[in-house]
Amino acid sequence: VGVAETELKDVAVQVAAEAAELVRRAREAMVAGEAVRVETKTTDTDVVTAVDHAAERLVRDRLAELRPGDHVLGEEAGGSPGDGVTWVVDPIDGTVNFLYGAPLFAVSLAAQVDGVSVAGAVVEPVSGRHWTAVRGQGAWLDGRRLAVSSPSRLELSLVGTGFAYRADRRARQARFVSGLLTRVRDVRRAGVASLDLCAVAAGWLDAYVEHGLHRWDWAAGALVAEEAGAVVHLPGADPALGADATFAAAPSIAGALYDAVLECGIGEV
Ligand code: IPD
Repeated sequence: VGVAETELKDVAVQVAAEAAELVRRAREAMVAGEAVRVETKTTDTDVVTAVDHAAERLVRDRLAELRPGDHVLGEEAGGSPGDGVTWVVDPIDGTVNFLYGAPLFAVSLAAQVDGVSVAGAVVEPVSGRHWTAVRGQGAWLDGRRLAVSSPSRLELSLVGTGFAYRADRRARQARFVSGLLTRVRDVRRAGVASLDLCAVAAGWLDAYVEHGLHRWDWAAGALVAEEAGAVVHLPGADPALGADATFAAAPSIAGALYDAVLECGIGEV
């Protein structure tokens, strides 16, 4: 099983890197003045560009060649999990950053079996950083083994979060963040959930909590965080946290953050 999972990781990195190169070129053209087609999805803040669609198409085409018979679930073209391996793809995580010309966004690709990520890659088109993980074997940044931080207490912890596109969720998230801000060192919002989770793995954040992520946002990044030693709760796994909370924290503050999250009311509608 270990060998097969390593092969899945190799496929994930290869295909994510190819999609990242497409996105990098498209960004260069955009920054040079070329117009990019943009549409809104669920709300005016939820955008998709022609580049998201093109990158997902590339991922699907390459997976069909390299892994015929596997299933694919993608942010833009949908799909559903099936028996065997299901690939979960976010062609551009951080689409809003991409649209503004900011360099922080990523291609996220994970292989899941029975809904559990077994291998994954998060590739940043602009910096070229490759984040990878294999279940039970570890997590790496450009081949260097990752390990989470060990802050001594919650008050000294840097915590990442993010906001969903739905207004009702945002109102709840605003209440949650205002409660959290007085209990931690500071709060960050990068706009790229997969990279927030990778940042926990690298110790660039001590923890990350967001309410309302989709599977493609967390499928690869949560495995990277977990394999680097983070305590991870995925959406639906712990109803006390709220049915759709994603939680990743350095073990030294995970218990205190968990309690703070409950006190700050992320589970309330
Ligand atoms: C979004 C980003 C953002 C998070 C949102 C996600 P997208 O993904 O990861 O950081 O706060 O919840 O939907 O739309 O850019 O792929």
